[in-house]
Amino acid sequence: MQDPHLIAAEAVNAMAAIDDPALLEEVKARYLGKSGSLTELLKQLGKLDAAERPAAGARINEAKQQVEAALQGRRDAIARRELERRLAAEALDVTLPGRGQGSAGLHPVTRTLARITELFHSIGFDVADGPEIESDHYNFTALNIPANHPARAMHDTFYVGPSDVLRTHTSPMQVRYLETHPCPAKVVVPGRVYRCDSDMTHTPMFHQVEGLWVDEDVSFAGLKGVLVDFMRAFFEQDALRARFRPSFFPFTEPSAEMDIGCVACGGAGCRVCSHTGWLEVLGCGMVHPNVLSPLGIDTERFVGFAFGLGVERLAMLRYGVNDLRLFFENDLRFLAQFREGAR
Ligand code: PHE
Repeated sequence: MQDPHLIAAEAVNAMAAIDDPALLEEVKARYLGKSGSLTELLKQLGKLDAAERPAAGARINEAKQQVEAALQGRRDAIARRELERRLAAEALDVTLPGRGQGSAGLHPVTRTLARITELFHSIGFDVADGPEIESDHYNFTALNIPANHPARAMHDTFYVGPSDVLRTHTSPMQVRYLETHPCPAKVVVPGRVYRCDSDMTHTPMFHQVEGLWVDEDVSFAGLKGVLVDFMRAFFEQDALRARFRPSFFPFTEPSAEMDIGCVACGGAGCRVCSHTGWLEVLGCGMVHPNVLSPLGIDTERFVGFAFGLGVERLAMLRYGVNDLRLFFENDLRFLAQFREGAR
């Protein structure tokens, strides 16, 4: 009979260099498997004399235990190495600073809209909104702009149907609001408007805030007072100058455009105000009786004023933004500057 300890030594030797678990199991089978060499030795025990059997059996078992101990040692070593490999590969440096939570912010146009409506709300104006797809009745006819009237050409209108348009201004809400609210009425209407116009200073979509105040004692002086106070509050400049120039809108009479002293140069003249010292900020006027009468409003009793201001324009002036297109590109480097702070 072969010496089981020699076989065991050979097995231990064979396993010592093995790193691959599958190969290790193959080697194990060669010695301890069903027809492994140590198993074969056990099968031969029966052929020995009865007196020799116990000692021979004991030696074979000792040899098996040596092989099993070496096998377990290898398995442990392979598992340990695998664990170390994973720990190294998946290591996390817990001392690195965290990425932090990025906080979102409101778009500067949204902030400006909110600032404008808050200021008017604080002096008693209701806040309403209306449809962006508008019939030409509300966008034009009800505002004293009949079909084929040249005033329609003032608006570069997007038609979305034979008589439906993307509203070219927020003024149609003057009519809608008065249809559903009894006089006296006092409301501002923020919203998107659309004009088929696109260049350095015009975008096909922009924002307006419409204002309307109809009551028994409303006057042009009141209109001026409200708008001058608003501009001073909006720009936080108590001494901001303003002037009103005669203008024309079919739905107001008289009509005016309001200029404020340039908030960039204080009136000395700069690029922002094209060296005039003045900035045009809105259109306004006394609501035309042709708008009020069809709504059943007694124009002997009730008088109204209205105004419409451009939101992007006010946002550019307040935040010192020199290119309108920045509002629509959504470049995060631009938007991030409006993340926090006062409106
Ligand atoms: N709707 C006019 C415009 O878009 C502005 C305006 C509103 C003028 C209200 C007078 C009164 O140009």
